[in-house]
Amino acid sequence: MESPSASCPPVALQGRDLLSSADLSASETRELLALAAELKAGRRRIDLGGKVLGLIFSKASTRTRVSFTVAMARLGGHTLDLNPSVTQVGRGEPIADTARVLSRYCDALAIRTFAQAELGEYAHWASIPVINALTDLEHPCQALADFLTLQEAFGAVEGLTLSYVGDGNNVAHSLMLCGALLGVNVRIGCPVGFEPSAAVLEQSRRLAAAHGASVEVLHEPVAAVRGAHALYTDVWASMGQEEEKALREQAFAGWCLDEELMAEADPRAIVLHCLPAYRGLEISAGAMEGSSSRIFDQAENRLHVQQALLAALLGG
Ligand code: CP
Ligand code: NVA
Repeated sequence: MESPSASCPPVALQGRDLLSSADLSASETRELLALAAELKAGRRRIDLGGKVLGLIFSKASTRTRVSFTVAMARLGGHTLDLNPSVTQVGRGEPIADTARVLSRYCDALAIRTFAQAELGEYAHWASIPVINALTDLEHPCQALADFLTLQEAFGAVEGLTLSYVGDGNNVAHSLMLCGALLGVNVRIGCPVGFEPSAAVLEQSRRLAAAHGASVEVLHEPVAAVRGAHALYTDVWASMGQEEEKALREQAFAGWCLDEELMAEADPRAIVLHCLPAYRGLEISAGAMEGSSSRIFDQAENRLHVQQALLAALLGG
């Protein structure tokens, strides 16, 4: 094996923000996945020399928080926990002031919050890259890890079909946009009333058309997964929707990703879930733990894609 290279990352996104999966071009997305694969295989080593990432998380997180922290450590950098409950943000200091001050100390910010508009406000005022670490609208870092996992299973992702069954939520939106850029056919299967945002659907269909792929919304689980190469689901009630949990469990009856549904997919199909998962609700224990599941590789890949992303945003 060649010795690890410490040269500049091959994808240069210096100073850019990642607020949406659609902020990257198709080639930038592919290059990030290639860099993540190189980093994962130990064929590249990138040293950012002490750069600092601030984490502003207004919602709970295991994977995103820890994978960003470990990614920065592997890049020779540091992470600061700027949870609003321990900063003046929680006492109402304006984002305009917070973002400008933090830009004087940190080199990038990863923000997990509710409204996409709040993320946009940070990006507007910050003079450093701002990364979407999940909002109610999107989860772009998750989608990069998801397509890296699909790429590992099939070699190339273009022309494959990924079926997401469940709520038309943040995770679904980023899968639609990122999948469209990569030429993956994305099917969203959901009960009536839980469709993805019309604006994201239109945007992803435009991107898909430009890359020879399609984005469909179906309201019948078997039709949604038939012949698919990846079956994906997420919680029915996202963070912030806790009071709708019981109502949603009724609405999503019959939408569990289980062995019966898996039997309708391509025999090589892999099972994905962004986690955390509720076994017996959106996914069966058998689907989660079976030989088709790549769920824990997918969780690991958060680390590799975020390391690639940080290298591209901060390197050069
Ligand atoms: N998938 C994901 O974003 O997990 P966390 O909420 O634990 O970060
Ligand atoms: N849709 C879920 C994803 C969790 C990683 C949520 O927003 O809670």
